[in-house]
Amino acid sequence: MKKYRVAVLAGDGIGPEVMREGLKVLRAVQSRFGINFEFHEVPVGWAGIDAAGKALPDKTLKECEEADAILFGSVGLPGRDPTLPKNERPERASLLYLRKHFELFANLRPVRLYPGLNHSCPLKESRFGSGIDIMVVRELTGGLYFGQPKKTEEYVVVDEEGSEGRRVFLRATDTMVITTEEIERIAHVGFEAARLRRKKLSSVDKANVLENGVLWRDVVTTVGKEYPDVQLEHVFVDNAAMQLMLNPSQYDVLLCENMFGDILSDEAAALAGSLGMLPSASLGETSELSGIRFGLYEPAGGSAPDIAGKNLANPIAQILSAALMLRYSFKEEAAACAIEAAVEKVIAQGWRTGDIASASEEGNRIGTTQMGDMIVAALG
Ligand code: IPM
Ligand code: MG
Repeated sequence: MKKYRVAVLAGDGIGPEVMREGLKVLRAVQSRFGINFEFHEVPVGWAGIDAAGKALPDKTLKECEEADAILFGSVGLPGRDPTLPKNERPERASLLYLRKHFELFANLRPVRLYPGLNHSCPLKESRFGSGIDIMVVRELTGGLYFGQPKKTEEYVVVDEEGSEGRRVFLRATDTMVITTEEIERIAHVGFEAARLRRKKLSSVDKANVLENGVLWRDVVTTVGKEYPDVQLEHVFVDNAAMQLMLNPSQYDVLLCENMFGDILSDEAAALAGSLGMLPSASLGETSELSGIRFGLYEPAGGSAPDIAGKNLANPIAQILSAALMLRYSFKEEAAACAIEAAVEKVIAQGWRTGDIASASEEGNRIGTTQMGDMIVAALG
């Protein structure tokens, strides 16, 4: 029996209810695949602030450090306590902190329009005739999110006449920094992913304007020489955003800087029907000692406070994130595939949470817990 220790950080908003379904599904695959999970549930986000005074309590970080992987829900409640300083708010103090702390530089977001969900894609069917199946590979610990300096400061404008015309403004600075090493390691992840798929990599940059983009393009081209079997193309980020609307079927792997990947993955997820369908894996390097690749697995959507606690949220992104954990951290490919097949089956059977239901499917509309139950039942 293989044992895996998982730190479970459900967080805020819909986090706890979708996490419940994720754990339900993981428990259901245990015996069939000879796996034993040890779940350590700890608070994060506003739940961490309520329980222990900070978004990432010490005990939570310790559990993450001792775990083989982190299963994450979602954090952040935009309306809550605007006086809390931005660096202590859950997004920065827990999620971004964890990504950086564990050097989880590679974010994989598989976007797929499932058979049966064509109605929930906002495009005309003629535009996605050959389907939507895209892997967004997003650099996660560099780029515009983490570059220094990053600050807000005052600056003063004094009129020529003297102090009466003295006005104070604010200036906010974020810096986009990326190094050869960072581009190389994410590019390898992108090419490896493409190799296991349709062997096409579209590298996204803004090389016509940004120094970052020029370096990105050079380094990706060089790394690409090691993958002659993968077709490489370069696309400007604005064009990529447009092409996703016009002809998403052309994309296989989209390789992106942190901020570009954040934006394009939401856009791509909308094409696949709903953010509630989009899982993600944030990975570090594989440990030479254990062979385990540590990772954080989370739905790419947010905490959706407007529907929290109402049994309305779609748990599929969380459940598929659990499948990615089995695949990438634990190398339990068969169990991962079983979960994905069960999700596909339930969708094919017509069961829908509100976000993916068409008007004619009202009768098949089910809640968060029922969706989890259906997926467990489909596991057989
Ligand atoms: C995501 C989210 C996060 C990000 C937020 C919650 C900080 O939008 O994972 O895409 O911007 O990375
Ligand atoms: Mg995002």
